[in-house]
Amino acid sequence: MTTHRAFRWPSLLTESGRGIAFGGDYNPDQWPEETLDEDIRLMGEAGVNVVSLAIFSWDKIEPVEGAFTFEWLDHVIDRLGRAGIAVDLASATAAAPLWLYESHPEVLPVDRYGHTVNAGSRQSWQPTSPVFKEYALRLCRKLAEHYKDNPYVTAWHMGNEYGWNNRYDYSDNALAAFRTWCEAKYGTIDALNEAWGTAFWSQHVNSFDEVLLPRHMGGDAMVNPSQQLDYERFGNDMLLDFYKAERDAIEQICPDKPFTTNFMVSTDQCVMNYAKWADEVDFVSNDHYFHEGESHLDELACSDALMDSLALGKPWYVMEHSTSAVQWKPLNTRKRAGELMRDSLAHVAMGADAICFFQWRQSKSGAEAFHSAMLPHAGADSKVFRGVCELGKALKTLSDAGLQGTELERAGTAILFSAESEWATRSETLPSMKLNHWHDVRDWYRAFLDAGTRADIMPLKYDWSDYKTVVLPTVLMLSAVDTRRLADFAAAGGRVVVGYATGLIDENFHTWLGGYPGAGNGLLRDMLGIRGEEFNILGSGVEGEPEAIRLGAGGEVALEDAAALNGATTRLWQNDVTVTGDRTQVLAMYAGEEADEWELDGMAAVTRNPYGAGEAYFVGCDLDVADLTKLIRTYLAAPAQSQQSQANTDVLHTVRKSADAAFDFYLPRGKKEVELQGVEGEPVVLFQTERGEENGSYTVRRNGVLVVRR
Ligand code: GLA
Ligand code: GLA
Repeated sequence: MTTHRAFRWPSLLTESGRGIAFGGDYNPDQWPEETLDEDIRLMGEAGVNVVSLAIFSWDKIEPVEGAFTFEWLDHVIDRLGRAGIAVDLASATAAAPLWLYESHPEVLPVDRYGHTVNAGSRQSWQPTSPVFKEYALRLCRKLAEHYKDNPYVTAWHMGNEYGWNNRYDYSDNALAAFRTWCEAKYGTIDALNEAWGTAFWSQHVNSFDEVLLPRHMGGDAMVNPSQQLDYERFGNDMLLDFYKAERDAIEQICPDKPFTTNFMVSTDQCVMNYAKWADEVDFVSNDHYFHEGESHLDELACSDALMDSLALGKPWYVMEHSTSAVQWKPLNTRKRAGELMRDSLAHVAMGADAICFFQWRQSKSGAEAFHSAMLPHAGADSKVFRGVCELGKALKTLSDAGLQGTELERAGTAILFSAESEWATRSETLPSMKLNHWHDVRDWYRAFLDAGTRADIMPLKYDWSDYKTVVLPTVLMLSAVDTRRLADFAAAGGRVVVGYATGLIDENFHTWLGGYPGAGNGLLRDMLGIRGEEFNILGSGVEGEPEAIRLGAGGEVALEDAAALNGATTRLWQNDVTVTGDRTQVLAMYAGEEADEWELDGMAAVTRNPYGAGEAYFVGCDLDVADLTKLIRTYLAAPAQSQQSQANTDVLHTVRKSADAAFDFYLPRGKKEVELQGVEGEPVVLFQTERGEENGSYTVRRNGVLVVRR
C-alpha cells in the first residue's frame, strides 16, 4: 500500500561508516570564526559524529542575488570532516534572504484575510510561487554541484520542517494551483460538485475557474468542510511537491547521498500527512519536543511509535530534540537530571539510530537564545554539557555492542492513525469541538502501557493486516475501501475496536447515512451489531446538566464481565444506540442518575460482536486513560502479555532485534524507582540503575535506563 523510496542510511566518517549518529544543528555562521576551534574540540569531547549544517544559511551562501560564496562553508565542512564529524547538509532554503523579498515581494504568503505576510522570519514563502521555486532550485543545484563529491557531506537535509510557517497560503498562486489540483483530482466539475456537496448554500461551481480557496468569508461564515479538507490535502501536496522539486534538483547532480527532511511528529500537532511524505525520503527523521509532566515518556513513545511505522520498521533519525527547556511555550520547563539521557535513549529504544539536538551551541541572540542546546550559555563546565558527554559515551557503547540496524519488535496491536481524520476533527461544524483524534490515539497508547502491553501506531493507509487487533480511536473519516479492509480483516479472524466518533464521514466529509457509524454504507454498523441515531454531547458546563455519565451494570441487558467497567466515566460524547446484532454482547451500559437524566440509562455503551472468524468491539463513548486501561485489561490484552508485564506497568519495555542480537530497554514511566527481576542478558547500559545481588535483578531509578543484550 506504500511505495517508499528504497531505504538508504547516511554513513558516518568512522572506518566502517557505521555507528549511532550523535550531534545536532550547527550554526557556526552565528559566531565569530574563532569559535569553530572550540566547537570542534568540544564536539570531540562529547563524541559528536554528525552535524546538520547551513539550515538557515541562504543569505550567507548567496549574500546578494546570484553571487554564491562557499568558502566559509567549505572551511567549516573541511574542519568538521577532518575531525571525523560528518555533515548532513541542508538545502538552505528554509529561510530566504531579505534581498529576495525586496526584489520579489510576490513570493510572500497571504493569510486567509488577504493580508500579505511580512518578511523577516523563516518559511515566509509561497510553496506555489514559481519565482520562489526558481531561486530555491538554483540554490539547490549550486550546493549539489559544489558538494557532490565532498566526502564529509553524507546526507541531504532538505528544507526544514516544511510547512511550519507556510502551511496555509491563500495567495493567488495558491488559488491557481488549487484549481489545477482540483481538476487533476476530480477530472470533471460535476465530480467536484458532488464531492463538495455544493448544492448546499448556492455553491455550485460551473468550471474549475470558479473554484475558491477557503478564504475568510466574513463573520462566522462556516467553511464548507469538504472544501476545507481538500485545501488541507492540497497544502500538504504543494509542500511535498516543493520538497520533491528540491530533492530532484539535487539528486540529478548528486544521486548517491541519501535524502531526508525533518518531520514534526508529536501528538499535539499534525501539520503534514507524513504517511505520504515518508514515501519520498530515503530515511525518515523527526523533530520531537517533550511534553512536561506525567505523560513525558509515554507521549515520546507514542510519537515514536508512529515514526517507527513511517520508517517501515527500519531505523530512523531524531533530527532535533532538546537537552533541556525550549523557549517557544508560554512557560518553558527544563529537564530534570537524567532526562537528557533518558529521552535520548527512549528514542533509541523506540527504533532511532541517530540522536541529534537543536542545537549544538546555544545562541547568544535572536529568537532562540533561551532555547537549550548541547553547549549551553554556561559553557562546557555545566550539567548539560556533562550530560551530553555522558550521552555520547552511552551511544558509543550501544554502537559497539551492535545495536545499530536492529529493529523495534512489533506489538500485536496497532492503533490506526489518520492525518486526514485529525484534520477533519478540527472542523468547527461537528457535534463537539472537543474531538481530537491524535489525543485519543495517545490516550489509547498510554492505556495499553498501563495495561502492561505495548501497541504500535500505524497510518490507516498502511498495511496493518498482520496485527491481531486494530483500534480506531476517533477515526472520524472512513472510506468505503478502508471499511472493507476492516471487515475483511475481522472476517479473517482479526479484532477491530471502533471508538466513539469513528466512521461517521467518508473521504469527502459526507456523513454516512442510515444510522451511525455508517461507514461503508452500513458495513461498519453491521460489523458492530449496533445502530446509532444521535450523539449525546456533554462538557458544556451548562447549569443543571450532568458533567459526566457513569457506566455500570443495570437495566435489562444481560451483562458479561459487568464489573469490569463499573464506575467508568464518560464526559464528552455518548452514542445513542440500539443493539441490532443477534449475537452482539453488551459489555457495559450507561447507568445511574446522570444517565437517566439524558435517557441513556441501560443503553449499551461498550459492545462486542462476532464477525466472521473475528470480532468487532464498539466503544460508544469517550473514556479516560484509566478506564481504557480497564477495558484493555479485561477484553483486549492477550493473557500471556498481561501476565508477563503485570509487574512491569511502571516501565516502558521495548526490544530491538536483528538476526544476531536482541536488546531489551527498560525505562521507568513514573517517579518511582522500578525493581526488575529475572532480566536475561548482559547489561550494556546501566544509567541511574543498580544491579541487584541476584542474577538478573536491577533497580532502575527515576529517569534511569537499563539496556541489556541477549
Ligand atoms: C439559521 C439559518 C439557517 C440555519 C440555522 C442553523 O437560522 O437561517 O439557514 O443555518 O441557522 O441553526
Ligand atoms: C524547530 C526548528 C528549529 C528550532 C527548534 C526549536 O524544530 O526546526 O530550527 O527552531 O524548533 O525548538
